[in-house]
Amino acid sequence: MIFDTHAHYDDSAFDEDREELLGGMNDHGIGTIVTIGADMKTSAAAVRLTERYSFIYGAVGVHPSETTGLTERDMEQLKEYAALPRIVAIGEIGLDYHYPDTDREVQQHWFARQLELAKEVCLPVVIHSRDAAQDTMRIMKEQHCEEIGGVIHCFSYSKEQALQYVDMGFYIGVGGVITFKNAKKLVEAVEAVPIERIVLETDAPYLSPEPERGRRNHSGKLVYVADRVAGLKGVTVQELIRITEENARRLYRMEADV
Ligand code: NI
Repeated sequence: MIFDTHAHYDDSAFDEDREELLGGMNDHGIGTIVTIGADMKTSAAAVRLTERYSFIYGAVGVHPSETTGLTERDMEQLKEYAALPRIVAIGEIGLDYHYPDTDREVQQHWFARQLELAKEVCLPVVIHSRDAAQDTMRIMKEQHCEEIGGVIHCFSYSKEQALQYVDMGFYIGVGGVITFKNAKKLVEAVEAVPIERIVLETDAPYLSPEPERGRRNHSGKLVYVADRVAGLKGVTVQELIRITEENARRLYRMEADV
Protein backbone atom coordinates (compact mmCIF):
# COMPACT_ATOMS: atom_id res chain seq x y z
CA MET A 1 0.00 0.00 0.00
CA ILE A 2 1.01 3.63 -0.48
CA PHE A 3 3.39 5.08 2.13
CA ASP A 4 3.09 8.87 2.53
CA THR A 5 6.48 9.83 4.01
CA HIS A 6 5.64 13.49 4.68
CA ALA A 7 2.35 15.14 5.63
CA HIS A 8 1.12 17.71 8.13
CA TYR A 9 -2.16 16.34 9.50
CA ASP A 10 -2.04 18.73 12.46
CA ASP A 11 -2.67 21.59 9.99
CA SER A 12 -5.83 23.63 10.52
CA ALA A 13 -6.82 22.83 6.92
CA PHE A 14 -7.89 19.44 8.34
CA ASP A 15 -9.71 20.70 11.43
CA GLU A 16 -13.17 20.25 9.94
CA ASP A 17 -12.89 16.66 8.75
CA ARG A 18 -9.63 15.22 10.06
CA GLU A 19 -11.22 12.16 11.65
CA GLU A 20 -13.37 11.33 8.69
CA LEU A 21 -10.48 11.81 6.26
CA LEU A 22 -7.94 9.77 8.22
CA GLY A 23 -10.56 7.11 8.94
CA GLY A 24 -10.98 6.60 5.18
CA MET A 25 -7.27 6.41 4.28
CA ASN A 26 -7.30 2.64 3.92
CA ASP A 27 -10.01 2.89 1.27
CA HIS A 28 -7.72 5.26 -0.63
CA GLY A 29 -5.00 2.59 -0.61
CA ILE A 30 -2.90 4.41 1.98
CA GLY A 31 -1.08 2.04 4.33
CA THR A 32 1.21 4.30 6.34
CA ILE A 33 1.65 8.03 6.94
CA VAL A 34 4.42 9.95 8.69
CA THR A 35 3.09 13.26 9.99
CA ILE A 36 5.80 15.87 10.37
CA GLY A 37 6.37 18.54 12.98
CA ALA A 38 7.55 21.99 11.89
CA ASP A 39 7.84 23.77 15.27
CA MET A 40 7.43 22.86 18.95
CA LYS A 41 3.64 23.03 18.85
CA THR A 42 3.21 20.93 15.72
CA SER A 43 5.79 18.44 16.95
CA ALA A 44 3.61 17.90 20.02
CA ALA A 45 0.61 17.57 17.70
CA ALA A 46 2.47 14.94 15.65
CA VAL A 47 3.07 12.94 18.83
CA ARG A 48 -0.66 13.09 19.64
CA LEU A 49 -1.66 11.91 16.15
CA THR A 50 0.64 8.88 16.44
CA GLU A 51 -1.11 7.98 19.69
CA ARG A 52 -4.51 8.12 18.04
CA TYR A 53 -3.98 6.30 14.74
CA SER A 54 -2.14 2.99 14.39
CA PHE A 55 -1.01 3.70 10.81
CA ILE A 56 0.40 7.15 11.58
CA TYR A 57 4.01 7.64 12.68
CA GLY A 58 5.64 10.95 13.47
CA ALA A 59 8.69 13.16 13.05
CA VAL A 60 9.56 15.96 15.47
CA GLY A 61 11.70 18.98 14.69
CA VAL A 62 11.75 22.67 13.90
CA HIS A 63 11.54 24.02 10.34
CA PRO A 64 14.21 26.65 9.48
CA SER A 65 11.62 29.43 9.21
CA GLU A 66 10.50 28.72 12.80
CA THR A 67 13.92 28.71 14.46
CA THR A 68 13.92 32.29 15.84
CA GLY A 69 13.79 32.11 19.64
CA LEU A 70 14.48 28.37 19.93
CA THR A 71 16.24 27.29 23.13
CA GLU A 72 18.20 24.33 24.44
CA ARG A 73 15.15 23.56 26.58
CA ASP A 74 13.26 22.98 23.30
CA MET A 75 15.98 20.52 22.25
CA GLU A 76 15.43 18.63 25.50
CA GLN A 77 11.71 18.48 24.75
CA LEU A 78 12.36 17.17 21.22
CA LYS A 79 14.69 14.57 22.70
CA GLU A 80 11.91 13.36 24.99
CA TYR A 81 9.51 13.07 22.04
CA ALA A 82 12.19 11.28 20.01
CA ALA A 83 12.38 8.52 22.62
CA LEU A 84 8.74 7.56 21.95
CA PRO A 85 8.48 4.35 19.90
CA ARG A 86 6.27 5.82 17.16
CA ILE A 87 8.49 8.83 16.50
CA VAL A 88 10.66 7.71 13.59
CA ALA A 89 12.65 10.81 12.57
CA ILE A 90 13.90 14.29 13.43
CA GLY A 91 12.35 16.85 11.10
CA GLU A 92 11.58 18.80 9.30
CA ILE A 93 14.85 20.64 9.74
CA GLY A 94 17.12 22.48 7.31
CA LEU A 95 17.65 25.81 5.61
CA ASP A 96 15.22 28.05 3.74
CA TYR A 97 16.65 31.17 2.12
CA HIS A 98 13.57 31.76 -0.03
CA TYR A 99 11.98 34.15 2.45
CA PRO A 100 14.35 36.59 4.20
CA ASP A 101 12.41 36.58 7.53
CA THR A 102 14.66 34.23 9.46
CA ASP A 103 18.33 35.10 10.01
CA ARG A 104 20.55 32.68 8.08
CA GLU A 105 22.99 32.20 10.95
CA VAL A 106 20.12 31.37 13.28
CA GLN A 107 18.83 28.82 10.77
CA GLN A 108 22.29 27.28 10.38
CA HIS A 109 22.83 27.03 14.13
CA TRP A 110 19.59 25.13 14.74
CA PHE A 111 19.99 22.98 11.65
CA ALA A 112 23.38 21.78 12.89
CA ARG A 113 22.06 21.43 16.44
CA GLN A 114 19.12 19.27 15.33
CA LEU A 115 21.44 17.10 13.24
CA GLU A 116 23.43 16.55 16.44
CA LEU A 117 20.20 15.68 18.20
CA ALA A 118 19.39 13.10 15.50
CA LYS A 119 22.80 11.55 16.12
CA GLU A 120 22.19 11.45 19.87
CA VAL A 121 18.84 9.69 19.50
CA CYS A 122 19.86 7.54 16.50
CA LEU A 123 17.03 8.64 14.23
CA PRO A 124 17.12 9.60 10.53
CA VAL A 125 16.39 13.21 9.52
CA VAL A 126 13.80 14.88 7.28
CA ILE A 127 15.56 17.74 5.48
CA HIS A 128 13.84 20.85 4.16
CA SER A 129 16.17 22.84 1.89
CA ARG A 130 15.07 25.68 -0.35
CA ASP A 131 17.36 28.08 -2.23
CA ALA A 132 20.15 26.98 0.09
CA ALA A 133 21.84 24.07 -1.71
CA GLN A 134 25.46 24.92 -0.89
CA ASP A 135 25.06 25.69 2.81
CA THR A 136 22.81 22.64 3.28
CA MET A 137 25.42 20.32 1.79
CA ARG A 138 28.26 22.00 3.71
CA ILE A 139 26.54 21.61 7.08
CA MET A 140 25.46 18.05 6.28
CA LYS A 141 29.08 17.16 5.48
CA GLU A 142 30.37 18.89 8.62
CA GLN A 143 27.86 16.93 10.71
CA HIS A 144 28.70 13.63 8.97
CA CYS A 145 25.17 13.10 7.76
CA GLU A 146 26.24 9.89 6.04
CA GLU A 147 26.13 8.42 9.57
CA ILE A 148 22.60 9.74 10.16
CA GLY A 149 20.67 9.08 6.94
CA GLY A 150 17.26 10.42 6.03
CA VAL A 151 15.30 12.05 3.25
CA ILE A 152 15.59 15.27 1.25
CA HIS A 153 11.95 16.32 1.38
CA CYS A 154 10.30 18.01 -1.63
CA PHE A 155 13.56 17.76 -3.55
CA SER A 156 14.04 20.86 -5.73
CA TYR A 157 17.71 20.85 -6.78
CA SER A 158 19.62 19.42 -9.76
CA LYS A 159 20.06 15.76 -10.64
CA GLU A 160 23.78 16.08 -9.81
CA GLN A 161 22.88 17.18 -6.30
CA ALA A 162 20.27 14.42 -6.02
CA LEU A 163 23.00 11.88 -6.76
CA GLN A 164 25.29 13.51 -4.18
CA TYR A 165 22.60 13.02 -1.53
CA VAL A 166 22.06 9.44 -2.68
CA ASP A 167 25.82 8.86 -2.26
CA MET A 168 25.44 10.16 1.30
CA GLY A 169 22.85 7.45 1.92
CA PHE A 170 19.82 9.71 1.63
CA TYR A 171 16.44 9.18 -0.01
CA ILE A 172 14.79 11.68 -2.37
CA GLY A 173 11.23 12.75 -1.48
CA VAL A 174 8.98 13.27 -4.51
CA GLY A 175 5.49 14.79 -4.33
CA GLY A 176 2.90 16.74 -6.28
CA VAL A 177 5.46 18.97 -8.01
CA ILE A 178 6.44 16.06 -10.30
CA THR A 179 2.98 16.30 -11.94
CA PHE A 180 3.33 20.01 -12.72
CA LYS A 181 4.05 21.15 -16.28
CA ASN A 182 7.21 23.06 -15.27
CA ALA A 183 8.80 20.13 -13.41
CA LYS A 184 11.60 19.58 -15.96
CA LYS A 185 14.45 19.72 -13.42
CA LEU A 186 12.70 17.39 -11.01
CA VAL A 187 11.87 14.98 -13.85
CA GLU A 188 15.59 14.82 -14.68
CA ALA A 189 16.46 14.18 -11.04
CA VAL A 190 13.85 11.41 -10.70
CA GLU A 191 15.13 9.79 -13.89
CA ALA A 192 18.70 9.86 -12.57
CA VAL A 193 18.06 8.61 -9.00
CA PRO A 194 17.91 4.80 -8.51
CA ILE A 195 14.33 3.68 -7.87
CA GLU A 196 15.46 2.20 -4.52
CA ARG A 197 16.09 5.73 -3.25
CA ILE A 198 12.79 7.40 -4.16
CA VAL A 199 9.99 7.87 -1.62
CA LEU A 200 6.53 9.37 -2.11
CA GLU A 201 5.26 12.32 -0.09
CA THR A 202 2.34 14.72 -0.14
CA ASP A 203 3.43 17.61 2.09
CA ALA A 204 -0.35 17.75 2.70
CA PRO A 205 -2.21 20.09 2.89
CA TYR A 206 0.20 21.72 0.40
CA LEU A 207 1.39 20.86 -3.14
CA SER A 208 -1.64 19.00 -4.41
CA PRO A 209 -0.79 17.15 -7.66
CA GLU A 210 -2.39 17.69 -11.05
CA PRO A 211 -5.26 17.41 -11.84
CA GLU A 212 -6.09 18.73 -8.37
CA ARG A 213 -3.42 21.43 -8.21
CA GLY A 214 -4.34 24.38 -5.97
CA ARG A 215 -6.79 22.41 -3.82
CA ARG A 216 -6.13 20.96 -0.38
CA ASN A 217 -3.82 17.97 -0.65
CA HIS A 218 -4.12 14.68 1.26
CA SER A 219 -2.50 11.26 1.10
CA GLY A 220 -5.25 9.82 -1.10
CA LYS A 221 -3.98 11.97 -3.97
CA LEU A 222 -0.55 10.33 -3.96
CA VAL A 223 -1.75 7.93 -6.63
CA TYR A 224 -1.29 10.73 -9.20
CA VAL A 225 2.32 11.12 -8.07
CA ALA A 226 2.86 7.35 -8.09
CA ASP A 227 1.47 7.17 -11.61
CA ARG A 228 3.82 9.88 -12.89
CA VAL A 229 6.93 8.45 -11.19
CA ALA A 230 6.08 4.94 -12.42
CA GLY A 231 5.95 6.29 -15.97
CA LEU A 232 9.35 7.96 -15.58
CA LYS A 233 10.95 4.83 -14.10
CA GLY A 234 9.33 2.37 -16.55
CA VAL A 235 7.51 0.25 -13.96
CA THR A 236 3.83 -0.34 -13.25
CA VAL A 237 2.07 1.81 -10.65
CA GLN A 238 1.68 -1.28 -8.44
CA GLU A 239 5.42 -1.97 -8.59
CA LEU A 240 6.23 1.67 -7.89
CA ILE A 241 3.93 1.69 -4.85
CA ARG A 242 5.46 -1.55 -3.52
CA ILE A 243 9.07 -0.41 -4.06
CA THR A 244 8.57 3.06 -2.57
CA GLU A 245 6.80 1.53 0.44
CA GLU A 246 9.83 -0.72 1.06
CA ASN A 247 12.11 2.29 0.60
CA ALA A 248 10.13 4.31 3.14
CA ARG A 249 10.35 1.51 5.71
CA ARG A 250 14.12 1.35 5.22
CA LEU A 251 14.37 5.14 5.43
CA TYR A 252 12.44 5.29 8.72
CA ARG A 253 13.95 1.99 9.96
CA MET A 254 10.59 0.35 10.55
CA GLU A 255 10.05 -3.39 10.78
CA ALA A 256 8.83 -4.93 7.54
CA ASP A 257 5.61 -6.22 9.13
CA VAL A 258 4.65 -3.13 11.13
NI1 NI B 1 6.50 19.69 5.09
